[in-house]
Amino acid sequence: SARQPDSSDLLQWYDRHQRVLPWRARLGEIPDPYRVWLSEIMLQQTTVVAVKPYFEKFVTRFPDVFALADAPSEEVMQAWAGLGYYSRARNLHACAKQVAYEFGGVFPDNEAELLKLPGIGPYTAGAITSIAFNKPAVAVDGNVERVMTRLFALTDPLPGVKGQVREKALSLLPEGRSGDFAQALMDLGATICSPKKPACSICPWMELCLGRRQGIAETLPVKAPK
Ligand code: ADE
Repeated sequence: SARQPDSSDLLQWYDRHQRVLPWRARLGEIPDPYRVWLSEIMLQQTTVVAVKPYFEKFVTRFPDVFALADAPSEEVMQAWAGLGYYSRARNLHACAKQVAYEFGGVFPDNEAELLKLPGIGPYTAGAITSIAFNKPAVAVDGNVERVMTRLFALTDPLPGVKGQVREKALSLLPEGRSGDFAQALMDLGATICSPKKPACSICPWMELCLGRRQGIAETLPVKAPK
């Protein structure tokens, strides 16, 4: 009876409720691929709250990819100290040098090229392609797995269901707003479609969410037994 889920309700919600985060371009601003890349590396294994002050300090000290590439590695490690997972910092520095000196400071704008760079996996490549360049790509992480399995009532267990999650996310990609779509899914997963006790009553997809309609939202995603 309900119409098929699409991204319009989500994007309208995002226009009103998006989180203000230091790496996000504000209304009318063009995203800076350096800041998008740096934030996504920091956010790989660290929470938004923990990343914020590090991100601010980092971009003050290293305002662009050349400043980072040219810095001594001890300084980079020092600026990273406290964030943990130090291989991320080593890869970050190696990636900065490659972008600065092999690509003239220009980040690649597609997933295939991004994936060749140190520290960039499928999730980060999708995030940079969509958020920094607004090109059609999805960044599938745990949040997106949770939101898509619930929205479409996908009951197959993880990790097998990942292919369907990716397909569903791609099917919702809005024309011309890939970056907002990626970040709207992150915000929805972080603030409303939480693992326990999701706030379905204030969700922009409440009417369309098949998981909620079937009363199984909270049980998703299903995880394969270890
Ligand atoms: N988690 C990973 N990337 C993020 C982003 N760009 N904004 C908020 N949370 C995130």
